[in-house]
Amino acid sequence: MKSEINNYIHKFIQNEKSNFVAVLFHGTGGDENSLVNLAMASLPKMNILSLRGKVKENGMNRFFRRVEEGIFDMNDLFFRTDEIYNFIKSAKETYSFNDKRLIALGYSNGANIITSILFKYPQIFAAAILLRPMLPFQPTEKINLNNKPILILSSPYDEIIPTTLTLKLINMLNSFNSYLTIQWMESGHALTYQDVKEIRAWFNALDWE
Ligand code: MLT
Repeated sequence: MKSEINNYIHKFIQNEKSNFVAVLFHGTGGDENSLVNLAMASLPKMNILSLRGKVKENGMNRFFRRVEEGIFDMNDLFFRTDEIYNFIKSAKETYSFNDKRLIALGYSNGANIITSILFKYPQIFAAAILLRPMLPFQPTEKINLNNKPILILSSPYDEIIPTTLTLKLINMLNSFNSYLTIQWMESGHALTYQDVKEIRAWFNALDWE
């Protein structure tokens, strides 16, 4: 199989001692550097694989195309979902982390691509942190997420993500048998230090045996 590792601009920060890899997906207009400090501050020291979205919207990086705010180009979303899955498989070989557990962490557009990846490839991530997410689409079949820990940090004051679409995501993840934790933040769409604190508390409370 052709290596897909050069298919995404990315950053890999190694910590061989850790059994985890945080896989980071920035929001619209971010890049592979945007969430690194947040991940380092909120998760115990782990390997980090951080991607840059390939789609451009007025010069801003995204993980999939949208027609307008909240209206997604579904063909592109499905195409990028597969493309990122193949990239991660290739990164596992390249950076030798086949045996490590992957923790997905994404903000806004980055959270939405994680959800799409989870719907198609539920095994790939051991857990997921979705910051200001929404339901990107309604899957046609029920998916078994097998008690996978998922943290949602959303805000009722979010200026970009309608609460109804976050609630739809919550209902769906519940019906797909995930181990869901939800916190409602005061901040709106922006991330604050409260997000760091919530992620840290959630991750440390998980039982990784
Ligand atoms: C999306 O396009 O994925 C959502 O509208 C969130 C965002 O604006 O990034």
